[in-house]
Amino acid sequence: MSQAAPLDYRVAPGGQLQGRLRVPGDKSISHRALLLGAIAEGETQVEGFLSGADCLATLAAVRALGVAADMPAPGRVTLKGRGLEGLKAPAAPLDLGNSGTAMRLLTGLLAGQDFISTLTGDASLSRRPMKRVIEPLSTMGARIESKNGTAPLTIHGVRPLKPMRYQMPVPSAQVKSALLLAGLYAGGYSWIKEPGPSRDHTERMLQAFGHDCLREGNWVGIHGGGPLRAAHIEVPGDLSSAAFFLAGAAMTPGSELVLENVGVNPTRDGVIRLLRAMGADIRFSNPRFSGAEPVADLSVRGGTLHGTDIGAELVALAIDDIPAVLVAAAAARGVTRVRGAAELRVKESDRLQAMQVGLTALGVPVELSQDGISVTGVERFRGGEVQSHADHRIAMAFALAALRAEAPLTILDCANVDTSFPGFVAMAAGAGLGIAAAERRAA
Ligand code: S3P
Repeated sequence: MSQAAPLDYRVAPGGQLQGRLRVPGDKSISHRALLLGAIAEGETQVEGFLSGADCLATLAAVRALGVAADMPAPGRVTLKGRGLEGLKAPAAPLDLGNSGTAMRLLTGLLAGQDFISTLTGDASLSRRPMKRVIEPLSTMGARIESKNGTAPLTIHGVRPLKPMRYQMPVPSAQVKSALLLAGLYAGGYSWIKEPGPSRDHTERMLQAFGHDCLREGNWVGIHGGGPLRAAHIEVPGDLSSAAFFLAGAAMTPGSELVLENVGVNPTRDGVIRLLRAMGADIRFSNPRFSGAEPVADLSVRGGTLHGTDIGAELVALAIDDIPAVLVAAAAARGVTRVRGAAELRVKESDRLQAMQVGLTALGVPVELSQDGISVTGVERFRGGEVQSHADHRIAMAFALAALRAEAPLTILDCANVDTSFPGFVAMAAGAGLGIAAAERRAA
């Protein structure tokens, strides 16, 4: 990716979103299906798998750990699980590209192996904080070398790990999941306390693999030892990919979209709650379960939105979707204030800053604080250039902003959209956004 010419989006102003869309599979659930399938007994089948760069990095990693994995058709993966103790030392460092989820979850899994492994990533991933997994995994007995708390990480696994009781300082499903995976390799029960709810896909999927977690308030417990039994996993559409279309349609009068088969797990549906609080008309139909996960078809109609106050708990439930919500807020009447959002500064980019810079370029009044951002809505955005900071979610959020712009937008450095949403440009164009991707020519 880094060698190729930069990829920009050119987006025509105005338009509306119409039609029925099926966004690609859920990124979080796709990663977990590979990792649990790798250590289960028997053949796991995954349908609706997200073939984005992040999950493909996890797929390459499990293969390098000795797991036979095939992709017989787009969106289908079969894995021959090697059992809890069957992974093999990789011959080379595992390159996880841009994916924080892959790195944190694999660190937990590899802490319990009887070999040494090294995890690397791209420039963005190499800046992201890993002490949040290194410290508790060290308490469990693993030894993890890092560059002052960042990747590359060299993991000296230990078996068995020591069970522990650990209170997480920040709500993070990645940290919780890393510790749950390590807990499978501990002798006894490990307990983890979250400061507030975070997505529970790992707990739900462990159950599908025949390994129940315990829940007591904000504590989640897991017992060490297997076996995990192979499962058939149907991955729902990713709500965090749907989020861009929900926000774009909700803020554009005349839009009417149906997003089919979207995961609506209540531990991460903050984007729906927030857009509704802003006055968006979003309805559920055909609610059902896709394996352990609730899904529904979501209908959204455009209208006039108004500003809202967003506190830490809703930030955690909409952690990846705040850029999309902020674009909707910038087109809403009044002020939207986000607080308790310091975690957004350590995502694929510093998302608070990226949104401030981008929205300011579009003529939107913005105020930034250490852990929050306030946005005052405007009737129309200015056109011009917006830097995505090579962050997929910033790129997609600003692409949809063109719906309410008065002149064309150019979004710079959008190649990483492929990490979570391959096919974004075609889907957005099919729904009515005047978007095209273009390689930037050398000056
Ligand atoms: C994820 C958890 C979230 C989210 C990320 C995916 C997961 O990260 O931002 O995109 O799959 O567990 P944190 O847990 O660090 O908030």
